[in-house]
Amino acid sequence: MKLLEPVRLGPFELPNRIIMAPLTRCRADNPGRVPNDLMAEYYRQRAGAGLIISEGTVVSKKGIGYVNTPGLYSDEQTVGWKKVTSAIHAEGGRMFSQLWHVGSISHPDYHEGELPHAPSSVNPDIPIRTPEGRKHSVEPKAMTGNDIRQTIIDFKMAAIRAVAAGFDGVEIHSSNGYLFHQFFSSTTNRRSDKYGGSIANRTRFYFKVLEEILSVVPSVRVGTRLNPMYHGRAAIKLNEETLPTFEYIVKRLNDYRLAYLHLSRPFFPVESPWLIDNVPAHFRKHYQGHLMLNGEYNRESGEAALQNGLGDSICFGRPFIANPDLPERIRNNHPWATADTTTYYRSGAEGYTTYPKYTE
Ligand SMILES: Cc1cc2nc3c(=O)[nH]c(=O)nc-3n(C[C@H](O)[C@H](O)[C@H](O)COP(=O)(O)O)c2cc1C
Repeated sequence: MKLLEPVRLGPFELPNRIIMAPLTRCRADNPGRVPNDLMAEYYRQRAGAGLIISEGTVVSKKGIGYVNTPGLYSDEQTVGWKKVTSAIHAEGGRMFSQLWHVGSISHPDYHEGELPHAPSSVNPDIPIRTPEGRKHSVEPKAMTGNDIRQTIIDFKMAAIRAVAAGFDGVEIHSSNGYLFHQFFSSTTNRRSDKYGGSIANRTRFYFKVLEEILSVVPSVRVGTRLNPMYHGRAAIKLNEETLPTFEYIVKRLNDYRLAYLHLSRPFFPVESPWLIDNVPAHFRKHYQGHLMLNGEYNRESGEAALQNGLGDSICFGRPFIANPDLPERIRNNHPWATADTTTYYRSGAEGYTTYPKYTE
């Protein structure tokens, strides 16, 4: 099976093409959002993946939008992550850190009453989970030039910390309606300065962050995630500008020779005249490097995508929650357990480290 074949990714020889997707699990349940032993155990159980991509990890306090998500902006967090990466390395695995800023998908309760940051003051108009329960989102603050400069520094500092914490690389979370995606989309980016308007302007902040990260981490250890057909949440809507914008980003990414481009198919139902059907096939034409595919793949469809040359590896999200031994289950064609959605974002071991390996 192609899924079980080794593949080169930057300096790494992955033993298989089964990647663990970034999955927010909200277990950093301490005031400093510091990764803990329970998280180290959870990731250790999944170290058989060709590569683990960490849960979204906020690069600054301003980047927070969920309860108990870990960060990479303090010394304590860096030390906490070291426990996680050491556990993975002891098992022979590899792990990248997903660097995250939620932008408008947040609430003043996370920012001492101040507004969340975003390219423009467009309210995503969705419920936000706050420490006091769900509250409605607000109109964010349109970032100033200084806010943008500070955020670029925050990403660079987090990348430096990721290396110090023993991560094998970093993935920029540039998908799923969060800060970078809010800059890409003309429905959430209404700016008239050099960060808004044309495609080059709407992607300027992203490429600036990428280049700053590349000044401290070699390109072969940097990946980036895109979900071009994401629609309907976070005020991001597909429109006539969507496809040309993502084609521009993907084509330009070739120049940077990154470890990989991580591409998601939409994983929520999307209805729009601007939706393209086969996201991997479309972007495969434009990208020459390692293409990692994600979005509702199973053993058969993942294998078929690799056989058809649509991608170089398959990234599994929900399947990895309930199947810590997913590569072994794929190897032996064992059935997959289904995750309990009620424990996705709760504290504690239950539904986190309690899923067993397959037994006959
Ligand atoms: C519980 C949960 C948490 C997630 N957290 C993240 C995250 O932190 N960063 C991210 O880029 N995507 C996140 N996602 C999206 C997944 O990485 C993946 O793209 C999505 O689940 C579709 O893949 P799948 O069909 O294999 O599950 C999350 C999804 C789930 C179900």
